[in-house]
Amino acid sequence: MIWPLNPKSKRLPRALPGLLALAPEAPAHEKHDPAVRMRRNRKAEWTRRLVREHVLTADDLIWPIFVREGVKQHEPVASMPGVERLSIDAAVESAREAHELGVPAIALFPYTDPGLRNATGSEALNPDNLICRAVRAIKDTTPGLGIITDVALDPYTSHGHDGLMRGEEILNDETVEVLVQQALNQARAGADMIAPSDMMDGRVRAIRSGLDAEGYQQVQILAYAAKYASAFYGPFRDAVGTSKTLTGDKRTYQMDPANTNEALREVALDIAEGADIVMVKPGLPYLDIIWRVKESFGLPTFAYQVSGEYAMIEGAAQNGWLDGDKAMMESLLAFKRAGADAVLTYFAPRVARALRGG
Ligand code: PBG
Repeated sequence: MIWPLNPKSKRLPRALPGLLALAPEAPAHEKHDPAVRMRRNRKAEWTRRLVREHVLTADDLIWPIFVREGVKQHEPVASMPGVERLSIDAAVESAREAHELGVPAIALFPYTDPGLRNATGSEALNPDNLICRAVRAIKDTTPGLGIITDVALDPYTSHGHDGLMRGEEILNDETVEVLVQQALNQARAGADMIAPSDMMDGRVRAIRSGLDAEGYQQVQILAYAAKYASAFYGPFRDAVGTSKTLTGDKRTYQMDPANTNEALREVALDIAEGADIVMVKPGLPYLDIIWRVKESFGLPTFAYQVSGEYAMIEGAAQNGWLDGDKAMMESLLAFKRAGADAVLTYFAPRVARALRGG
């Protein structure tokens, strides 16, 4: 072990010297060996490339896109600089562009007209809702691009919760029945991968059975297995219009940020219920969870670099407080290092472009 503390350092916090007086001198064999020079392998770009352990490629990216009604609409999301709500025609263009950049898949989220939101989120089951129309239009023009759709009721409910409510309670089993119908609605429209983000118990098995019973054995399930009740979703709720509607918080169904072992249990359950891929969300503040999930199960493990993480980097970059492009690349590489196989990120097209050297 390298001795970590240098008692002579002038940069020690005030309280430390006293503590260090109690620490023994580093034994001779732990002092610096002049033959060991970690910097040799870092001396030039070519050798840094040779010893690099992880790489980020366009194959690792999934682009979340917000869709809205209208034609030729690019409506900025104030809390996510550079992110827009796109009308379907504009989303079709963006999807084509993402495909050309080598991004394997997109994830669609709707901004539902407030007039269509109600207590049961019934618009989620409308075969002609915004998401279904967007899926069909993108599949028509860019069939080689994977389309992931979100299963949860929050963009459709007047109360902004992911499930049905009775009084203050978010109902579990009643919600799961609706989620199965929502998943089927999306599969019929042509979604390739269904991503339940609602955190109701038992929904993965129910959705799998529902899909299989209708012949959608090939439709994958990406389970938001360990999804935390997080402040970092703030800007997303702006984007889908639930920041104003949401009553209370989601702590009775999303996980407590204090817990790790519980995440492993959540993931184990979703795998047992038939998830093809599991996800951890948020991303950067939860790299320990990604690491443990990947180590424990070895399943394809995705991470969501959520809206608040994006806003932090972009907000700081726009103020000139950090180099946005570098922070973007570094943050995504961190996901790879932690063991994520792919990352949902609002940076996806920008990263893909940067990786191409453009
Ligand atoms: C809700 C959902 C949320 C996100 C994806 N799906 C927010 C929430 O749980 O309130 C957040 C994504 C982001 O912040 O980028 N089903």
